[in-house]
Amino acid sequence: MSLLELQSLTKEYSRGSRAFNAVNSVTLSVEAGDYINIIGRSGSGKSTLLNMGAGLLTPTEGTVSFDGRDIYRLSDKEISFLRNAKIGYVPQGQSLLSNFTVLENVCIPWFLFPRRGDPYEHALVLLEKTGISHLAASYPKELSGGELRRAAIVRALINSPSLLIADEPTSDLDTETTAEIMKLFNDIAHNGTAVLVVTHEIDTLSYGNKTYSMNAGNMTLLPLQIERRSYLLKTESLREA
Ligand SMILES: Nc1ncnc2c1ncn2[C@@H]1O[C@H](COP(=O)(O)OP(=O)(O)OP(=O)(O)O)[C@@H](O)[C@H]1O
Ligand SMILES: [Mg+2]
Repeated sequence: MSLLELQSLTKEYSRGSRAFNAVNSVTLSVEAGDYINIIGRSGSGKSTLLNMGAGLLTPTEGTVSFDGRDIYRLSDKEISFLRNAKIGYVPQGQSLLSNFTVLENVCIPWFLFPRRGDPYEHALVLLEKTGISHLAASYPKELSGGELRRAAIVRALINSPSLLIADEPTSDLDTETTAEIMKLFNDIAHNGTAVLVVTHEIDTLSYGNKTYSMNAGNMTLLPLQIERRSYLLKTESLREA
């Protein structure tokens, strides 16, 4: 049984009188420890697919199973627990709440489903890893685009999810910071969290064990499979550099 299974997933939208499938019968299995990239042109259906996979958008057809359970058949309470505690989601664009500091923002998923331990301590470790710990007391409007992206990544990781879904998480970042984030995702995947990332940056594809391409709602596996070993070696050489 896979951690996340998308089975013949379709989302139909209409524009004017014309209906079209933004996502067209996509099937995908994500296992613990997988690090999967999805690439594709603007408008090809990547965000629509991720939103359905994260439990945020009801499919027109097909199913999404998480740990063997069809998530669109869960109660509201069960699905919100899943979304907050098991799935870390980094949406495309700015998503922080403007009236809260960075530290408060990244701890919100923890406060929704409190557990043992100190959320602030945990958050500060992640803020440090992503290079923005000095911004903990700042408000979102005082941050750059890349800093906001990194805060959204920390928020997605605060509950140590079993699945991380990220929609262009490095779109505002420079090459060096992008490599840092990819290394972080790589480590997370290595520790057993499944990572599913939409990316535009071709050089980030060396991280990850599978790459899919989306084209007008259809998804295909690219023959770019990089063995886990080779990308781990690459990570090692980046660490040494
Ligand atoms: N709520 C909606 N109603 C109608 N059409 C929609 C809706 N949301 C998205 N679409 C359309 O569905 C298609 C896929 O959109 P989606 O946001 O998934 O693309 P994307 O691959 O993420 O693009 P980008 O790389 O620009 O983020 C686009 O043609 C978009 O215009
Ligand atoms: Mg998108």
